[in-house]
Amino acid sequence: MPIGEARELTAAAALRALEDAAGPGSAATTAWAPGRCTLVGEHVDYAGGLVLCVAVDLGIAAAVRGSASGRYLATSEGVIVTRTGPGPAGDLGDRVLAPVVALRERGLTVPAVEVGIAATLPSGAGLASSAALIVATTTAILRMLSATMTARDLAAVALSAERDVLGIPCGPLDQRAVIDAPGGGALLLDCGTGRASSLAWPWEDAVLVGCDTGTHHDVGGVEYRRRREETESGLAALGVTSCQELTEPEVEAAHVGPEVRRRLRHVMGETERAAAAAGAMRQGDLDALGRLMSASHRSLRDLHEVSTPALDALVGAAEAVPGCKGARLVGAGFGGAVVALVASTAAQACRDAMAGACGAGRTFELTPSPGVAALSPDVVRG
Ligand code: GLA
Repeated sequence: MPIGEARELTAAAALRALEDAAGPGSAATTAWAPGRCTLVGEHVDYAGGLVLCVAVDLGIAAAVRGSASGRYLATSEGVIVTRTGPGPAGDLGDRVLAPVVALRERGLTVPAVEVGIAATLPSGAGLASSAALIVATTTAILRMLSATMTARDLAAVALSAERDVLGIPCGPLDQRAVIDAPGGGALLLDCGTGRASSLAWPWEDAVLVGCDTGTHHDVGGVEYRRRREETESGLAALGVTSCQELTEPEVEAAHVGPEVRRRLRHVMGETERAAAAAGAMRQGDLDALGRLMSASHRSLRDLHEVSTPALDALVGAAEAVPGCKGARLVGAGFGGAVVALVASTAAQACRDAMAGACGAGRTFELTPSPGVAALSPDVVRG
């Protein structure tokens, strides 16, 4: 199915979910946001590193309307929650309504809202479902208000909704990818300076396929927080704020414990690999990008220690398929999905191999999609 049609169907499903849950009411506005797939550059965004990523054709739609009763409502997959206010209460409504709080904090007048959600993006799979949900809802609210925002401001609001309102210690990667990714290409994001550039996807005969282990990670969880704290303490011990400033001799000589040294080795190597991956993409060197993806996985497994046996098994199964160029866990790790870069002719074999290695694992193919800035120019100013 063409991607535009899939986006419209998901938006229509969000609208139906809203009307089923809240009954007929004022006309609703909708917005769709894609997920994000990192190619190389994982667990470096909070260390000022480089990330090469794409937005994907699986995403989340939100349908929003003002609430006549003043009661807040959020609904997704048949679950309905209602509230008297938009603040977090520990349920499905938290992520859906956090944009209301973040937008008000920026000075916008946002009424009580009712929100329906529909998704094709698996949640908790490491494909930025949280950011997609929050960006879709924020964009739909802005559209309802006939308000506009720059891409930078929208990313700041979405990050603040997740980090400040919900207390999830994520970095800036997911929001920027979901908003700024170019259509049909990748985004090279410098999380140290905030600058981003676009790269075309040069291969007509290569695709990204994935498999979700079904074990869901939690970015708000203890292990993600710990990796972030360890990395930040290592950077502070060396007197730098970005892993792009690290050198190998400095890391080896640093007065830090063995765990922190491993984290520093990961962020230093991973940001170098992301730069090399962008070079491989510019040169159309598919094999090199694949090798860098597999090296990224090994570093995430051995140095940052965020992989699991199920993820490692999926990577091994994918890499054993002729035509697979490389494979890695995607997102925060501790569960979630693996993505593999494969020749198109080997895509099905790779999906079958991963499904076989994972039992009930859901497989999918990911196509680079434009981000919200390109999809919603009526709301997002350049
Ligand atoms: C999660 C976080 C991001 C980033 C990735 C790992 O998706 O939300 O900020 O840290 O993990 O690269």
